[in-house]
Amino acid sequence: MQQDIASVLLSRRQIARGIRRLANRIAADWDAHPCDPANPLTITIVPILTGSFIFVADLIRQLPLRLRIRLISVSSYPGAATAAHKATLQHELTNLPDHLRGAHVLLIDDILDSGGTLTAACQALRQRQPASLRTCVLLRKQRPEALAFPVDYVCFDIPDQFVVGYGLDYNDLYRNLPDIVTLKPHLLRTEAAYAR
Ligand code: IMP
Ligand code: MG
Repeated sequence: MQQDIASVLLSRRQIARGIRRLANRIAADWDAHPCDPANPLTITIVPILTGSFIFVADLIRQLPLRLRIRLISVSSYPGAATAAHKATLQHELTNLPDHLRGAHVLLIDDILDSGGTLTAACQALRQRQPASLRTCVLLRKQRPEALAFPVDYVCFDIPDQFVVGYGLDYNDLYRNLPDIVTLKPHLLRTEAAYAR
C-alpha cells in the first residue's frame, strides 16, 4: 500500500489538530444555543457512510455534547443525460431515520466535491422537519461547485485532487491509511476514480 502513495497531503498529526479545532468550534456554537435546562439540548449526528466513519469516530470523542448517531448511506450512479447531453448523477439514500421532527441535526460527510451528495442528503433530511440542520465535512475541494455549497463546518480546504486515506477510498481501498494522501497517477483510471 505504501508504494501506491504519491504524496502526503495531510498527516495524521495535522488531521488530529484540525479535528480538535473543529470540535472546539462546534461545541462553542452549540454551547451558545439557547436551551431549556429541563430539556437539555441533544444533537443528532448523521454521518454519511462509508467515507466519514473514521472522521466521525475521532470528532465525536472531542465533542462534550449530548448526542445521538444515525448512520446513513448515499450511493451515486449515472442518471439520465441532461438536455446538454451531460451525464448527471442520481443519489440513492438508504437507512434514513424516520423520525427527525424537532431534532437538531448535524450531517457529516468525508469530502465536498460537486456537492451532489450533500444536496441530496439535506433535501431528504429537511423533509423530516428537523428543528435545525447543519452540515460538516472533513475536506472541501477547491472547485467552484464545492465552494458554492453552503456548508457550515469545513475541517480542511484542499486542492482539487483525488485523495484517499483516513476513511476515503479508491474502489473501496486505502480507507485504513492514517494520513490523507494522493495516489500515483498510473493507479487511477479516470472513469473508475470517481466510481463510488
Ligand atoms: P460530491 O457528491 O461530488 O460532493 O462527492 C462527495 C462524495 O464523493 C464523497 O462522499 C466521497 O465519497 C466521494 N469523493 C469525492 N471526491 C473524492 C476523493 O477525492 N477521494 C475519495 N472520495 C471522493
Ligand atoms: Mg462518500
